[in-house]
Amino acid sequence: MASHLRSSEWYSGDDRNAYIHRAWMRRGVPDTAFRGRPQIAIANTASDLTPCNAHLDEVAQSVKNGIYEAGGIPLNLPVVSLGETQVRPTAMLWRNMMAMATEEMLRANPIDGVVLLGGCDKTIPALLMAAASVDLPAVVIPGGPMLTGHFRGEALGCGTDVWRLSEEVRAGTLGEALFEKSESSMIRSTGHCNTMGTASTMALVAEALGTIVPGLAGTPAPDSRLLEASHQTGRLAVELVAAERRPSTFLTKASFHNAIVALAAIGGSTNAVVHLLAIAGRLGIDLTIDDFDRIGADVPLLVNLQPAGRYLMDDLYRAGGFLAVLREVKDLLDPTALTITGSPLVDHLDDARIWDADVIAPRTQPLIPAAGISVLRGSLAPGGAIIKPAAASPHLLKHRGRAVVFDSIEDFHARIDDPELDIDEDSVMILRGCGPMGYPGMPEVSNMPLPKKLLEKGVRDMVRICDGRMSGTAYGTVILHVTPEAAAGGPLARVQTGDWISLDVRNRRLDVEVPAAELAARGVNDATVQGFANPQRGWERLYVDHVMQADTGADLDFLVGSSGSRVTRESH
Ligand code: FES
Ligand code: MG
Repeated sequence: MASHLRSSEWYSGDDRNAYIHRAWMRRGVPDTAFRGRPQIAIANTASDLTPCNAHLDEVAQSVKNGIYEAGGIPLNLPVVSLGETQVRPTAMLWRNMMAMATEEMLRANPIDGVVLLGGCDKTIPALLMAAASVDLPAVVIPGGPMLTGHFRGEALGCGTDVWRLSEEVRAGTLGEALFEKSESSMIRSTGHCNTMGTASTMALVAEALGTIVPGLAGTPAPDSRLLEASHQTGRLAVELVAAERRPSTFLTKASFHNAIVALAAIGGSTNAVVHLLAIAGRLGIDLTIDDFDRIGADVPLLVNLQPAGRYLMDDLYRAGGFLAVLREVKDLLDPTALTITGSPLVDHLDDARIWDADVIAPRTQPLIPAAGISVLRGSLAPGGAIIKPAAASPHLLKHRGRAVVFDSIEDFHARIDDPELDIDEDSVMILRGCGPMGYPGMPEVSNMPLPKKLLEKGVRDMVRICDGRMSGTAYGTVILHVTPEAAAGGPLARVQTGDWISLDVRNRRLDVEVPAAELAARGVNDATVQGFANPQRGWERLYVDHVMQADTGADLDFLVGSSGSRVTRESH
């Protein structure tokens, strides 16, 4: 029996505890299972309430076959799962809980390595946070995007077209009946959203980080190549144990450099910023919000996908896939960053080709020459705020306008379509109380719908500012993740309707034109404070007491870092 295996601390020997650990696991398992064969967990987020991940049980079967074939023992481990469209008030409230629960169950059980099956927005980030903190050999399989649905001859982008069509209804240019009819065409197959939303982004970014076998991310969920790659990944997981390749042995600042380059080149979701910061925090890697601007700002946008562009994820796959994108920006990647295969990311790019230059633009003809996320600071956001210029209106990137302030999303809904609301297209819409502490959970509400009366006039974008997040499928001139959030006493809590706000993305400024002393003297009005959440018990109480601000990834303060995989005490 190989004594170096972690699981042998449970299974080897002839004492009473080893007897107990083995006996209850037998149930048809051969005796060899306990004699030095790597025990590989499959952290499985399949759930009927996470529809984007519901097909992962089939993926898990292919992984199991690969693990068996390589001599390991596969063990299905259902973990907390988060369906972005289903859970209230926001899936982000439980990303850290999912990460914590997964970390603890990986540590508590007799396993030597893990295959992480994710898909829907929060699932891959939470799995990677867990894997980083328990530091066992771990490899991700992204469940893949769904196939493109069509309605009346036109492709439907998940999320993005919901925002677009619902605005058309409010503007009076699309009938309610047709809008309702489009609903059954939106989700064509298994898999996650087919736009460059957070799920697609995190799968590609996780591959750029090195945690997925290169070439796998972006494979559509129903594509048989996903199962083939899952089988191979199962085999790899067994090899990872022998090689002792754990997150701490190959993930470095260089890995995050590559993830940030990829994020910009694909026009990825702003949510990747909080997720990557949180993952880096677990690894003890010094990644800051400013790294996104410094590394990503000048990276060209090459992928023509909604919401920034036109196409959808299966188009990206047929056009050459993610590796073809990375090959175009190879010179911007850090050649030292390794992948889960043991070899550098840059070594996996030579065979990649662009087959449709309308979907993947060559480096010489980028869609936007400099596409990364910009980090803004100023009197309204001393700790930073972000904007994705690629999804914004160029004419609004430098703007000055009067604030129209909403104290909560409910306040916003109650007043936004009031014909008497004093607002025009130059106004700056501000929504507060939506940060990690304030909501709680930092929901995706920052892309506030425009007032109906302005939509009817043809206005399609306005400057919006919020301490919350925005869906990765959304677009517009939206300033997000304002830090400190209003509930933490940030200046956002003191802004009043009528204040002048100035935005200057080129110079990275976001200011409220009120003298500092006057702003400080204002205090925070009662309605605002009462609007912030104050949960009495349970996870929400723990979360509000310990969540950190968006600029460091909105993890819980006591979950930062790693405890490793060691457990020294027996259960009986
Ligand atoms: Fe699951 Fe969009 S709702 S990925
Ligand atoms: Mg989302």
